[in-house]
Amino acid sequence: MSGPTAPTPSPSAAPVSRSTDLIYVARLLTDRAMAYLQSLGHPYRVGTQAPPTRSELLAGLQGAAAAVITLTEKIDADLLAAAGPQLKTIANVAVGYDNIDLPAANAAGVTVTNTPGVLDRASADHTFALILAATRRITEGDRLIRSRQPWVWGPRMLVGLDLSAGATLGILGYGRIGRAVAQRALAFEMKVLATTRSATPGTTQDGVTFVDTATLLARSDVVSVHTPLTTQTRHLIDDAALTAMKPGAYLINTARGGVVDETALIAALRDGRLRGAALDVFEDEPHVNPALLDVDGLVLTPHTASAGEATRDAMGTLAIDNVAAVLAGHPPLNPVA
Ligand code: DGY
Repeated sequence: MSGPTAPTPSPSAAPVSRSTDLIYVARLLTDRAMAYLQSLGHPYRVGTQAPPTRSELLAGLQGAAAAVITLTEKIDADLLAAAGPQLKTIANVAVGYDNIDLPAANAAGVTVTNTPGVLDRASADHTFALILAATRRITEGDRLIRSRQPWVWGPRMLVGLDLSAGATLGILGYGRIGRAVAQRALAFEMKVLATTRSATPGTTQDGVTFVDTATLLARSDVVSVHTPLTTQTRHLIDDAALTAMKPGAYLINTARGGVVDETALIAALRDGRLRGAALDVFEDEPHVNPALLDVDGLVLTPHTASAGEATRDAMGTLAIDNVAAVLAGHPPLNPVA
C-alpha cells in the first residue's frame, strides 16, 4: 500500500511487549492498523466494521486486559464493572472521549487514552471544505444540476460569501485542530479571531487575534466550533449565541454534535438570522434530526472530518501504541487526564 503518511507516531517507536494479555478491538480498524496490531504478537479479538451492541461490547471486554474502542462505544460504570478487574486500559481511537465515563474509569483503575495530534490536518482540511461548501453554495449547485432543471449562468445566481475579500473566521476553541483551521484561513486571506483560555483577549499571535466569545460571535462571518463536548460546552451554541452572531453569518461544527442546539440552529436558518451552516457531527448521532434535512443552506457530512487514509492509519496505530505501552508496564503516550 502506498500513499502519504500521517505525521506520528512511528510504529517502530512502540514499546516491545510479548505479553499474553488479550487485546479487544471493538471495531475493525484500517488494514495497516490491524497489521500493526498483529505484529505486536498479543492475542487479540476483534469486532466487525459495525459498532458492537452493548452485549457484544461486554462480551468483547470480558477477559481482555486492554480495549481499543471508537467513539461509537459508550463506556460507563456498569460496563466497566462487568468487564472485570483484569481490564487495565481503554484506548479511544479519537481525540474526543465524551463516550467514556472518565470518573468511572479512574475509579475502576482503567487508564484511558486518546489519539491527539494525528488528525489535526485532516480535520482542519474537512472543516475548510465545509466552510467553502457552505459559503460558496457547492452542494446547492450540485443539487441544482442533478435536478435536471434548466439553468443558465447569471450575475445573481448562487452568489455566496467571498472568503478572501476580508471575511472573518471565528474559531471557538483554539486547540490543535483550531490552530490548523486558522492556518488554512490565513492562507485564504481571511481575518481570524479565536477564543482560548491560554491567551489574553485582545492579543494577537501568528495572525490570530484572541477575543472573548461574545466578540467572536458578533464579529465573525463564519464561526467554526472546535471545543470538546463537556458539561460546560453542551449547547454552547444555543438560541442566544445564534442570535448574538453577525446577521447572515455561517456556523460550522466538526467538533461534537452536543455543542450546538440543533433545534435553535434550524430556527436561525429558517428565519434567516444565519445564511448557512455545515455540520459533520450531530446531537443524537448517528440519528440525524429529519428537520435538518429540509433546511436550506445546510451542508451535512457523516462525521468524516478525520477520514483521511493516512490519518485513520495513524489514529489506529497510535491507539495500539498506547495499549502496548500500558501492557508493557510503561506510561501511556496519550493519557486522558
Ligand atoms: C475525534 O477524534 O474525536 C473525531 O471526532 C473522530 O473522527
